[in-house]
Amino acid sequence: MKVLEVDLGARSYPIYIGEALLADASLYAKHIVGRQVMVVTNDTVAPIYLDTLLSALSDYSVDSVVLPDGEQYKTLDTLNLIFSALLEKKHNRKTTLIALGGGVIGDMTGFAAACYQRGVNFIQVPTTLLSQVDSSVGGKTGVNHVLGKNMIGAFYQPKAVIIDVNTLLTLPPRELSAGLAEVIKYGLIRDDAFYKWLESHADQLLSLDVDAISYAIETSCLCKASVVAEDETEKDVRAILNLGHTFGHAIETHMGYGNWLHGEAVAAGMVMALDLSCRLGWVAESEIDRLKLLLKQVSLPIAGPASMTADDYLPHMLVDKKNVDGSIRLVLLERVGFAVVTSNYPSKALSQTLQACSSNKR
Ligand code: NAD
Ligand code: GLY
Repeated sequence: MKVLEVDLGARSYPIYIGEALLADASLYAKHIVGRQVMVVTNDTVAPIYLDTLLSALSDYSVDSVVLPDGEQYKTLDTLNLIFSALLEKKHNRKTTLIALGGGVIGDMTGFAAACYQRGVNFIQVPTTLLSQVDSSVGGKTGVNHVLGKNMIGAFYQPKAVIIDVNTLLTLPPRELSAGLAEVIKYGLIRDDAFYKWLESHADQLLSLDVDAISYAIETSCLCKASVVAEDETEKDVRAILNLGHTFGHAIETHMGYGNWLHGEAVAAGMVMALDLSCRLGWVAESEIDRLKLLLKQVSLPIAGPASMTADDYLPHMLVDKKNVDGSIRLVLLERVGFAVVTSNYPSKALSQTLQACSSNKR
């Protein structure tokens, strides 16, 4: 087992990465404060993993709430099901919420923990690749609104992140690929050596070679933990973790939550970010082809949905948490391995990117 640290002073916490950790009672015991535990999961994950987790929690008074599965249920209405379960079962301030599932469950459970009785303990047990490398680390929690993705939420850190890599064995291949989009993101924004490593290990990652996938998770979590430690509440550098996300959130919102997976939308969005970086003269055109090749190798899209025109993007891109004073701030690459956040680009270049990448003409 590897143990990494998210260094946030009094709110620091460990990330455990290894095999069969889901059943490791001693890990939970280190981070549960009282006697009460509420496991939050969904109707896809519960039949596969809930019993194993409950067995590891046999020393506690445990309740569970099983939510409907899907990005379309990442709403305030669904959040209320968690609050109702906590109140019906009389959970007190010392309760610990455990998120068992992907990013949707993790984001909602974290937000519920931030709000319930003004803040209770929570532990992330992420079971998708995307949630293991990204959403479970860093304390961004929340739900969607029909007018914008992740627009209602809070920064609220977990007490621990427990990553059992064996849970990936049941993940549908499309979800595995979606997680690899965020893994590739870390290479692009901060680590060109890791990006090269990914290019030569795509097959091992897709076949879930345990050494390769563990290395990819560990390297991704290290990158995320270091960015979060520098800028927990995204005043500045943390925004680089959103490479491709402004374009991607526009795709997710426009297409209807759940139709394009978050990672798929981010993959197309990263191509758009590189295209714009290339138009600004920062990266060579060959870097766009290089990224497209890697995305194709791991079965990810390299352009936006055919049904979405360039004009469809802008209204959604204007509703983005990074924006200030009405200008769209984007994460772009000065070079592979070095990202910047800027609104200093000609709007014509952005229009050209949207034209080129929404129809995959470039
Ligand atoms: P998800 O939570 O919808 O999970 C994907 C699918 O896999 C679901 O159907 C889920 O039930 C299923 N699943 C989960 N684990 C499984 C397993 N081990 N075996 C079989 N099926 C399994 O999607 P996701 O990609 O994990 O997360 C996407 C969400 O994360 C989005 O809402 C996105 O906004 C959010 N996100 C948050 C952050 C953050 O920093 N908080 C970062 C990135 C993404
Ligand atoms: N996924 C972006 C962030 O955590 O900041």
